Amino acid sequence: MCGIIGYIGEKPANQIIFDGLTRLEYRGYDSAGIAVLDGGRLLVKKEVGKLRNLHDMFITDFPSASTHGIGHTRWATHGRPSGFNAHPHGDCKTSLMVAHNGIIENYIKLKTRLTLAGHVFLSETDSEVLAHLIESHYSGNLEVAVRTALQEVEGAYAIVVIHRDHPDCLICARKESPLIVAVGQGENFIASDVTAIMHYTRTVHYLDNLCMAIVKRDGVDFFDVDGHSMDKKPVQVDWNPVAAEKGGFSHFMLKEIHEQPQVIRDTIGGRTSEEEGKIYLTELGLSGPDIFKFQRIVMVACGTAYYAGCVGKYMIEKLVRIPVECDLASEFRYREPIVDANTLVVAVSQSGETADTLAAVREARARGAKVLGIVNAKESSLTREVDGLVYIHAGPEIGVASTKAYIAMLTAFTLLALLLGKIRGTLTPAAVRREISELKRLPQEIEKVLANSAPIRVLAERFENAHNFLYLGRGINFPTALEGALKLKEISYIHAEAYAAGEMKHGPIALIDKELPVFVIATASAIYDKIISNVKEVQARSGIVIALATEGDEEIGKYVEHVIYLPRVSELLSPILNVIPLQLFAYFVADLRGLDVDQPRNLAKSVTVE
Ligand code: G6P
Repeated sequence: MCGIIGYIGEKPANQIIFDGLTRLEYRGYDSAGIAVLDGGRLLVKKEVGKLRNLHDMFITDFPSASTHGIGHTRWATHGRPSGFNAHPHGDCKTSLMVAHNGIIENYIKLKTRLTLAGHVFLSETDSEVLAHLIESHYSGNLEVAVRTALQEVEGAYAIVVIHRDHPDCLICARKESPLIVAVGQGENFIASDVTAIMHYTRTVHYLDNLCMAIVKRDGVDFFDVDGHSMDKKPVQVDWNPVAAEKGGFSHFMLKEIHEQPQVIRDTIGGRTSEEEGKIYLTELGLSGPDIFKFQRIVMVACGTAYYAGCVGKYMIEKLVRIPVECDLASEFRYREPIVDANTLVVAVSQSGETADTLAAVREARARGAKVLGIVNAKESSLTREVDGLVYIHAGPEIGVASTKAYIAMLTAFTLLALLLGKIRGTLTPAAVRREISELKRLPQEIEKVLANSAPIRVLAERFENAHNFLYLGRGINFPTALEGALKLKEISYIHAEAYAAGEMKHGPIALIDKELPVFVIATASAIYDKIISNVKEVQARSGIVIALATEGDEEIGKYVEHVIYLPRVSELLSPILNVIPLQLFAYFVADLRGLDVDQPRNLAKSVTVE
């Protein structure tokens, strides 16, 4: 979703801002803009399109080498993608410019009032109201004008403001939407997330909710919503900047798929003792009595993280014998959910910034539930709103379609289920030891699948022009089917539907004909025979089955045309392995169709608005 950059220092601002925006491209955007302060004037350029096409406008032809400016990539919410609607937005005299992420919910009311007072609006956006509102409160003190304006605003925002009469500073503020201030030598940065500035500095302040900062070349001052000065210590970001580069792969998504064996090792890293059959989740924030008390677990999440939660449900119910429900965060938040102090709510999120997931967490806590976050991004908003955490340690994920974060979430759920089972006495130390050993074996099995991806590409070539796909799975691999179908539709724009295989005959069976490719997850499991019955149902109607099967399964080849064989792993861990060929298939199809794999149309990496 929209990206913000601010720079004040000694280097050409347009270059630093363009570079930062490029590193934020993965968030998804449709237009971009840069404003710099140049000899007492604000120069502004903004346009629709991808940054690579806007390079000349922002770099080669840019008429200034100013060292002070702001930039933005916009993902349209209010008003279509256009040059006028692109940020930054100015006031009537172009004395100030604002870049904004989030949604100003009362903008119509504010815009009406400001228009009546003579302000002239140039865009259809909610964001432009901020520039005029600040202008209306400005009488020489920018800090006061911004603060007063924000007090009138309802909704969510991360903003950065530049003013022609304040050549020594940028002002930024946030409510709900994330923003960081990064500290360099004689230069400081503002950004939507750390990946934008990791190449310049690792010293970062995560701006607190409802707080503001005045950022100068040689220092940063923080204030709360009432203007009281705040003391804030920076943190050192430990993400490796190389992890945010493609490293020889043609796309971030492919690189991230190949990073998955290492991601599993990193998620497990130091959290298990195989000999003693123990799991250590040091940030869990739940005591033994808490864990005994829970009668129910509810997962809340969106997108891929939701499907990870669905796998987590099967793991926890099997190993811990607690009932688990999975709820889409956008549904949970508005349906007066029945949760209380005996419920553990588990919020799953790669970014830790998804608006619906954050709202679901607040709703759950207001009703007395304890909330555990399964999160990738350190210091993200979610990490500050939960009672405990399990970090998944996937590192920066740049491809919009989530891959390695999903694998890391499943690994984290395995650890969590083992820990809860151990504490509640549903698992013996021997059982925990066995599962730890299986989990540690997974990375090398995934490496084998990755090393043998050529047949999956051949399949992608065979089916790249199909119009529809069906994905079927059962039990713990039903969510795998859902995630496989999601990957394909996200990046190849082919319609794909996933069903619990046993449910197929209640509807989707009507779709089956000789044109329909059907992925069936048929790995060795307690319900293998049931899956084979489903395969036969598809075959009988001339559907084209592509089966995921376990090495050594000689039976499946008798029924289906296409089989992807995978190493044998425990049924509990099979979703972690089975999703890999489905990710690769989606990737190859999208690549063959010449699509923008890392930034699929209309999608955003982190959905920070409702
Ligand atoms: C967006 C992304 C998905 C992601 C979902 C939840 O829709 O495009 O890839 O799964 O948000 O994001 P989160 O950061 O909460 O895991």
